[in-house]
Parts: sequence; C-alpha cells; structure tokens
Amino acid sequence: MVDKIVMITGANSGIGKAAALKFAMEGYRVIMACRNMRISKAVQQEVAEASDNASVDLMELDVSSFQSIRSFCAEFKQKYPRLDILIHNAAYLNHGEKEYRLSPEQIELSFATNVFGPLFMTNLLADHLEKSQDARILHACTTNIKNFFDPKRKIDFDNLRGEFRNSRRYSAYKMYGDSKMALLILTFRLAEELKGRGIKVNALQINRVKLSKATIDKLSPFWRVLAWAQNLTNPLPSGMADNYYYICTSEEFRHVTGRLINHNREIIQPSTSEKGIEQLKNIFGSGSYPQYANDHQHAETLWDLGIELAKYAP
Ligand SMILES: NC(=O)c1ccc[n+]([C@@H]2O[C@H](COP(=O)([O-])OP(=O)(O)OC[C@H]3O[C@@H](n4cnc5c(N)ncnc54)[C@H](OP(=O)(O)O)[C@@H]3O)[C@@H](O)[C@H]2O)c1
Repeated sequence: MVDKIVMITGANSGIGKAAALKFAMEGYRVIMACRNMRISKAVQQEVAEASDNASVDLMELDVSSFQSIRSFCAEFKQKYPRLDILIHNAAYLNHGEKEYRLSPEQIELSFATNVFGPLFMTNLLADHLEKSQDARILHACTTNIKNFFDPKRKIDFDNLRGEFRNSRRYSAYKMYGDSKMALLILTFRLAEELKGRGIKVNALQINRVKLSKATIDKLSPFWRVLAWAQNLTNPLPSGMADNYYYICTSEEFRHVTGRLINHNREIIQPSTSEKGIEQLKNIFGSGSYPQYANDHQHAETLWDLGIELAKYAP
C-alpha cells in the first residue's frame, strides 16, 4: 500500500473510473466522489476487486451544488487525516441541450459543475491538502479552449447565472468551452494563491477519449450516432488516466504548478502570436494555449465571483 489519499470526482465512468482503477492498482487510498450512488456502488466494487485494493471508498458528491460540496467535505475531513491528490475530473456537457439549466444555487450548470463547484471544493479542502508532503491538484481541461485563439471569442461573464436566458441563445458547446477556459484561468490563479501553502495546481488538456456507453446514452439520438462514430477511432480512457497518475505522482511534476499540460505530458506555453502561420500552428498543434487565459482581469473577475457565490452557499 502507498500511504497516500487521492480523491477523484466523477469517478464512476470514463477517465475518472479508469483513473480510480489506476490509482487503486498502484496501492493508493482512493476516494471516488460521485453523485449517483446506485451506479457508482457497482463501479466501486469493480475497481476494488480488479485492483485487489480494499481502500477504495465511495462518497456522495454533486459538484454542481455548494450544499452537497459542503457536507461532502465535512464528512471527508472527519474520515480522513489529510488529502494528497485532488482530481477535478467531473464535468457537465450535454451536447445538443438548448435550454439554460441552473444549479441549486442558480449558477449556469456548466459553470457550477466545471468551475465554481471545484473552486469552492478546493478552498474547503485546502487545509487538508496542506497537511500533505506533496499536495497536487489536477483540473481536467480540454482542447475546446483553442476556440479562444479566435480574437472574437470571450466568456460571457454577465450571463453566468443565466441572466440573459430569455434573450441569448444557449449553446451547450460554447458554454462548456467557456467554463473550461474559466477553469484554466483559475488554475493559474489558484496556483499563485496556494503556492505558499505547498499545494500545486495544474491542468491537463485532454484531446479525445472514447466516451462511455452510459455517457452516450444520455445524449439525443443525433449526438449519440456521432459519439459512437467518433468512438471508433478515439483512444481508451486508460491512456488519459495514466496521464492523471503521472502528473499527480511523478518526480518530474513534483514542483510544477500553474501549468497547462498536454496529452503528451508536455507543458503548454502561452501563444506568442495569434496571427498568420503562427495561428495555424496554435490551432493544429498542442504546444500553445490562447493568450486570453493569461488576462489578469479575467482571473480577478472569476476569482471574485467564486468567492462571492460561495458566500451564499447554504
Ligand atoms: N472524453 C473526451 O474526449 C474529453 C475531451 C476533453 C475533455 N474531457 C474532460 O475529461 C473529464 C472526464 O470526461 P469523460 O470523457 O470521462 O466523461 P464521462 O464519462 O461523461 O464522465 C464524467 C463524469 O462526471 C460526472 N459528473 C457530471 N456532473 C457531475 C456532478 N454534478 N457531480 C458529480 N459528478 C458529476 C459524471 O457522473 P454521472 O455518471 O452521474 O453523470 C461522470 O462520472 C471531463 O472533465 C471532461 O470535460 C473529456
């Protein structure tokens, strides 16, 4: 056994499940933080049996709900002495969704699940992470953020609570991309914030991975066909789970913080130019991220909003 505790959100399917299995195989104490306990219970048993590791715990968490996060973190702190690795893997993307959906605290659901929930959770768990000798946080980001190489693309900061739900068209894909860009911006901001406490924060830019049957079954018929077609060539989640493991445990990344890392485990740099041939390299390569992510004002806006929203957490 490795005397280290890893928490993975959304560990009941896809990359999260593969990561739970990887860490369990390597002898870690694994906390699967999942919302559907009926489905997740079977997955927990599967992971524990396949890895022959009895220290695979399942705890209930809805990352889109501040109330759920608060009680989850309180229960976790009672059960466990510290936290070594926190992987914010869970995400909301409902392809084809046309209506704004809000979280219990009235935040647009992609932003609640992918940004403000994880931020609230990290802030609540920071004191437990601080007790680790080598605390690492990993955010699941995506190549979708490349859309921000387009100079016209921006996060609609004024609509994160669905303020314009009656006048602005909802695009699930855009909202998802915006939320993942916000998560990247907060990766940089959090890394600065937590540096003095010995907690490292990085993001992994996930390119493409096979979707699980459970995830595909949630889609509308059109998107279901498309997802099955893409699955024919997309790689298995286990490869990306190996990246989670490597970034969160290897000596190579022990002192790395505030970075975006690609699927080849290379650190991605901010783009130097977003014009002409350089822009083509940005879009088709995996070595640069949009300058938009480094905007100090965006970081402060998101940070302040995260703190403000958390004040109203039940
Ligand atoms: N697959 C790809 O090609 C790809 C590409 C880029 C980025 N990513 C990122 O990689 C991560 C994992 O994706 P995946 O492909 O493995 O997707 P997945 O199989 O659909 O897994 C997503 C997980 O998140 C959980 N989840 C969603 N909302 C939640 C909530 N409110 N509370 C708790 N758990 C919640 C889901 O639980 P339920 O089963 O209860 O819904 C599920 O376990 C995500 O952050 C995704 O954005 C994936």
